[in-house]
Amino acid sequence: MKKFYVTTPIYYVNDIPHIGHAYTTIAADVMARFRRLCGMRVFFLTGTDEHGQKVEKSAATMGTTPGELADQVVVRFKELWERLNISNDDFIRTTENRHIRAATELWRRVAERGDIYLGEYEDWYCTPCESFLTESQLSDGRCPDCGREVERLREPSYFFRLSKYEKPLLEHIEKNPEFIQPANRRNEIVSFIRQGLKELSISRTSFSWGIPVPGQEQHVMYVWFDALTNYLTADGWPDRTEFWPADLHLIGKDILRFHAIYWPAFLMSAGIELPEKVFAHGWWTVEGEKMSKSRGNVVDPFQVADEFGVDQFRYFLLREVPFGLDGDFSVRALKGRINGELANELGNLLSRTVSMMTRYHQGSVPGPNPLKLRAELESKMVALLDIYSRDSVYRDVESSMDRVAFHEALSAVWKAVREMNIFVDRAQPWSEKDAAQRATTLYILAEGLRIVAIYLYPFMPDASERIWHALGVEKSIEAVEKDAQASFRQVARWGGIAPGTKVRRTAPLFPRVE
Ligand code: ME8
Ligand code: MG
Repeated sequence: MKKFYVTTPIYYVNDIPHIGHAYTTIAADVMARFRRLCGMRVFFLTGTDEHGQKVEKSAATMGTTPGELADQVVVRFKELWERLNISNDDFIRTTENRHIRAATELWRRVAERGDIYLGEYEDWYCTPCESFLTESQLSDGRCPDCGREVERLREPSYFFRLSKYEKPLLEHIEKNPEFIQPANRRNEIVSFIRQGLKELSISRTSFSWGIPVPGQEQHVMYVWFDALTNYLTADGWPDRTEFWPADLHLIGKDILRFHAIYWPAFLMSAGIELPEKVFAHGWWTVEGEKMSKSRGNVVDPFQVADEFGVDQFRYFLLREVPFGLDGDFSVRALKGRINGELANELGNLLSRTVSMMTRYHQGSVPGPNPLKLRAELESKMVALLDIYSRDSVYRDVESSMDRVAFHEALSAVWKAVREMNIFVDRAQPWSEKDAAQRATTLYILAEGLRIVAIYLYPFMPDASERIWHALGVEKSIEAVEKDAQASFRQVARWGGIAPGTKVRRTAPLFPRVE
């Protein structure tokens, strides 16, 4: 059985969760659910990054301890993932013992390799990014990444011999063009490495909220050395590994350098396999502006979910923007997608289908007439025939998901939804005189919707289950997801809905908004 290991970044606990965090985690959830439906054994990991100066400072400002701050914020993250229907298999906190052990062991192995030496760090540091910066990297004296103030550091520090891995990294990237995605990001990383890598400071002595360096307790590990190790920890390393190497690290573009340079270099040093793929998605602005606490425009995902619905929110995030590009979150755009695609095109199709079966077939799915089925598909809906009988949606969805192109997977499914709307408008079952012909049309609609729901399930688990429920399908899609024997390709095959199945009239799938 094939395995699939997908991760999100572990989020800092200095801040409460917002739509940026929701975005990456929803994307990872969609991927995890999709792979489970494909019959893979999935490990989906998320969690929190709790050490470091940034968290220590935030806690001090709030008059609490970093440990207490973490305990409070973790609850918010866990509640959010529950609210958003996130199916993570584990939730890691870097303050857990299992993690302290793993990070300590990784340090030992890198040290054994001769890749760590003691020196003194004297340069700049950006605490919000937890990144070391040289004078020449600064832009107008500020952090080039977040634009905030940097501070001058001068302290004893252990260094990692990053320069030693310049060539091996470039070779690995060249040999594995899929390793860093999208391609423009890969090019940025390649040119960054080509400019030469400096040795990396990997310990701090001027504060104490971190994992102690083994044997040198006045040093704590650099928070990124600690944090990146989480991907190994959660898989049981160093005692065992079951899912490593990760198939996909999903991250935002802000933290690509840490994942595409430091992380593989640490792993190479320790003699551990590298992850298969690091995919850096784009950045969300809100109503055209950068999201920030000072602007007061940070979007609360709980509030969006309450106001517009969880599935509507999940759909919007992955449909609105090609995965990898930047995007803008606006209430107008969200409403447009809900009323247009979700309510009009999909929800309406379902309710029309169910009500026609109620009116013409005593509330059950009629049996199609095989001859008419063929004729109807061919004359009224050549495109639909292609979609369902030649499996073209399946192939499009699968290849899109392999390329982490969520928006393309959704367009492929939407092609089927649109073709069904065209079909029903042409076939006009409500004015059909021939009962057998109408039965055939309605069967096509019911079966088409049943199949569409399976494809949409990773994106909108709840709405998809409701489609099956309305169509009277006894099984749940979640049961297919959890059943290792059932692959959704089989379940999605044409003809699965049994004639005579009792349909159910239900509340609108996606209520229109204002
Ligand atoms: O960087 N648009 O944690 P973090 C899109 N602890 N994605 C966004 C976003 C936005 N406006 N804002 C945040 C850290 N994100 C480290 C990670 S991993 C070993 C350690 C998402 O809390 C995006 O995934 O700052 C980004 O990479 C992540 O949140 C940063 O979360
Ligand atoms: Mg950040």
